[in-house]
Amino acid sequence: MKAHILVTGGTGYIGSHTVVVLQTAGFEITIWDNLSNSHVEVIERIAQITGQRPRFQQVDVRSKESMRAALREIPTPDAVIHFAAMKAVEESVRKPLAYYHNNVGGLLALLEVMGSLPFLFSSSCTVYGEPDEVPITESAPFKPPTSPYGATKQISEQLLYDVATAQSMPTIALRYFNPAGAHPSALIGEYPIQEPTNLVPLITQAAAGLRPEIVVFGNDYPTPDGTPIRDYIHIMDLAEAHRAAIERILHGQMKTNFEAYNIGTGRGYSVLEIIRTFETVNHVAVPYRIGSRRPGDITAIWADPSMAQTTLHWQARLGLEDMLRSAWKWQIKMGKE
Ligand code: NAD
Ligand code: WQD
Repeated sequence: MKAHILVTGGTGYIGSHTVVVLQTAGFEITIWDNLSNSHVEVIERIAQITGQRPRFQQVDVRSKESMRAALREIPTPDAVIHFAAMKAVEESVRKPLAYYHNNVGGLLALLEVMGSLPFLFSSSCTVYGEPDEVPITESAPFKPPTSPYGATKQISEQLLYDVATAQSMPTIALRYFNPAGAHPSALIGEYPIQEPTNLVPLITQAAAGLRPEIVVFGNDYPTPDGTPIRDYIHIMDLAEAHRAAIERILHGQMKTNFEAYNIGTGRGYSVLEIIRTFETVNHVAVPYRIGSRRPGDITAIWADPSMAQTTLHWQARLGLEDMLRSAWKWQIKMGKE
């Protein structure tokens, strides 16, 4: 029998690509999303790619009543993947209450409703704060968070660790580095309702003429070209990591009730390397200028992904060029619709 996975935030960027991978691998999917940062048409797009329409319920994870009502209408899930959260770092500085309410409150409410169902959580490299050394391993300490958003991910992991331990609830936290790119079909990609704040969608919009330029936030960092370094990971590789993690959970392979994995490529690129590679592989100019540093940005971080490789049997297969080509293909496709 196919395992049934409940995916919160499943119409969002990472959720939609993960649903495609999971459906293709034979899982039955129910999506809960409040559509605060995604479009319901994504469901049709997923159906076009996979030949199956995932079940969709418009649910806000902060509402226990609406979650309980939704659960009554579906078969009992075998596991939960929890993507639903707010993710704009700068906005979290201005609206910390909204972030704690949604990201921590939503997780708390979801856990209360779901009991001890196996749980896969969207964590982030932001839990490490400014690292002492790179590449960073999962055993690195959590440094002070650089934003309320980062604090919500640290608190969520602690909360999950405590609940997983007390309730013997198999739980995996995947600490994503910087996701980018789109499904090769360009039927789904990063399609937020809010203005994007991440580098790659801003680059594609600038290249498409939808914004006059991109501002590079500082070129005076202690890195080879002065711009910060990150570990960019292809969205399809990231989606595959969820399949690997959910299989580890469902096959009873976990050694402890809470495990956390870095999901990155193990390779860092600077902002200018990203812009130049984008221009080269897509034969298009990216208008940019050098601006001042963005408060809270760290100099350099990239993953040591070896634990995911040995334990989840997962590793990133697609490189930066693939990522940036697929991001551009998606931008062009959106522009034509
Ligand atoms: P996204 O905004 O595209 O997707 C999040 C989805 O959750 C959206 O569809 C939104 O409508 C939904 N949502 C938000 N609050 C909700 C609520 N209260 N109830 C129900 N649905 C709600 O973002 P994403 O990039 O796909 O991120 C998914 C997860 O991954 C988030 O938890 C995010 O913090 C985490 N993450 C993202 C990145 C990144 O750079 N994109 C990196 C690391 C971790
Ligand atoms: C990447 C690089 C910027 C925009 C954030 C979160 C992290 C994770 C991923 C969720 C940085 C530079 C960016 C621009 C620029 N998300 N930049 N001009 O800040 O590494 O990580 O998203 O968990 O937790 O903190 O990602 O895409 O915003 O920035 O120069 O207009 O691009 O300085 O070096 P970041 P990003």
